[in-house]
Amino acid sequence: MTTRQWWKEAVVYQIYPRSFNDSNGDGVGDIQGIIEKLDYLKELGVDVVWLSPVYTSPNDDNGYDISDYRNIMDEFGSMEDWGKMLAEMHKREIKLIMDLVVNHSSDEHEWFVESRKSKDNPYRDYYIWKPGKDGAEPNNWEATFGGSAWEYDKQTDEYFLHLFSKKQPDLNWENPKLRQEVYDMMKFWLDKGIDGFRMDVINFISKVEGLPDGEKVEGKKYVSGHQYFMNGPRIHEFLQEMNMEVLSKYDVMTVGEMPGVSPEEGRLYTSEDRKELNMVFQFEHMDLDTQPGMNKWHLKPLDLRDLKRSLGKWQSELEDGGWNSLYWNNHDQPRIVSRWGDDMEYRVTSAKMLATCLHMMKGTPYIYQGEELGMTNIKFDSIEEYKDIETLNMYKERVDDHGENPEDIMQSIYTKGRDNARTPVQWNDTVNAGFTSGTPWIRVNENYRKINAEQALADQDSIFHYYRKLIRLRKQHEIIVYGSFDMLYENHTEIFAYTRTLGDEKLLVVTNFSGNNHHFDTKDTFDLSNAELLISNYEVGETTRNSFELKPWEARVYKI
Ligand code: NOJ
Repeated sequence: MTTRQWWKEAVVYQIYPRSFNDSNGDGVGDIQGIIEKLDYLKELGVDVVWLSPVYTSPNDDNGYDISDYRNIMDEFGSMEDWGKMLAEMHKREIKLIMDLVVNHSSDEHEWFVESRKSKDNPYRDYYIWKPGKDGAEPNNWEATFGGSAWEYDKQTDEYFLHLFSKKQPDLNWENPKLRQEVYDMMKFWLDKGIDGFRMDVINFISKVEGLPDGEKVEGKKYVSGHQYFMNGPRIHEFLQEMNMEVLSKYDVMTVGEMPGVSPEEGRLYTSEDRKELNMVFQFEHMDLDTQPGMNKWHLKPLDLRDLKRSLGKWQSELEDGGWNSLYWNNHDQPRIVSRWGDDMEYRVTSAKMLATCLHMMKGTPYIYQGEELGMTNIKFDSIEEYKDIETLNMYKERVDDHGENPEDIMQSIYTKGRDNARTPVQWNDTVNAGFTSGTPWIRVNENYRKINAEQALADQDSIFHYYRKLIRLRKQHEIIVYGSFDMLYENHTEIFAYTRTLGDEKLLVVTNFSGNNHHFDTKDTFDLSNAELLISNYEVGETTRNSFELKPWEARVYKI
């Protein structure tokens, strides 16, 4: 039986502060800029903001490399600004969840500055240090941002582990003192009144003892070590300890970002009786347009049947125990309308269809900034204009070091690069889309003259108003939150349809993931004759027939 919880009924909006809104003209979004836009978020109707990191950081990975967990990055403002932002959010009944990045810190964090000084430094064991093996790295793991996951440090003649960039050393969760530091820091923010945490790669914090080599791959020096740190041996113990020491003492929401998690594990992380996290943010569906066994840059077209299989499995596995996050977008993913919709002729229609398909499933929906405007991917002509460390390192490794064709690499960046999601939010049609009066840290998408919030607010048919309506429906019909899920037409390659059921109520959701017309038939499994059309992205005249024609990218939701 699904219990009632406020965070199941909520809709979350993610802010990536660097690109959200710049109030002081330095080209970088900031906290005052967020405050200026809270009425906009209120109008949209979201309940919770997930704020990507705003802590002090040298910005090797745009704030996901934290050098002081208890302070605000100068570029974003001060602690006073932050306090004002929280108060202004709460005044509008918007909750705030902060990003918790504790798999790693910055190498400029004072713990690491101390740790690297000597082998007997009290902070040495806050990080993962090892001597080299046969004059090379301690093992063959590859870092997410390329190269070895180990960096040699001359000072003590040892290597430290970094699963991301070499400026993001991994914290050693085996050390109880480190864990206590993290818990204290969490309490510091919770006592300021925040409403929860989004936990960055939290299923990476427990590593297999001995850090064994990953399976060798012909022709590759460094390989994936995933099986030795994703969902590692002590992960559940650590999360239960964190829950007992910290989370259980507050009424807050927690969401664990977890690459490489299976639905069965997702259930373990989020079953209420296990007292770990509220919901998991998983990636299985985000990998479906990647060639099997390859990294994200090796593209393949999405087969809709795979998407249905994957999302359907997550729906059923977490049906009664556990909870899903629902998302198409975040700051690491390309824009969904460019990815699985049509960002040209049917941009508005397909963006609405994608939103419908997602928001009617069971789980807590997330909207990533600009998604509600149907913002699209970016194509910069030159690699020089890209800012993301993952993209730049990949380009360098493959083009400069391995001599691959730059045009091919640019194509994969256009499709999968993280900067697609990081161009500034398009507020209006004035210079730089109203994001900044200065020079933006990353170039604005030229289509801002057409795609912007001012236009969207003024147009009752806009994607923005459609999202508003979806959010309102969730508040009006508890079946959207608590109903059980059943997939229809599993093998159809272009229609994604399902029902939700709660008591004797039923919801039918039919969406067309293509530019083709399709015939939809209820096959007499249920009767639409008295059904109410809750929402659609087309004018639907006739609403009572048990079969109908679906237009390109059409979406309909009926309540029976
Ligand atoms: C996941 C975050 O979403 C991503 O942006 C970041 O680069 C890595 N974790 C490392 O913190």
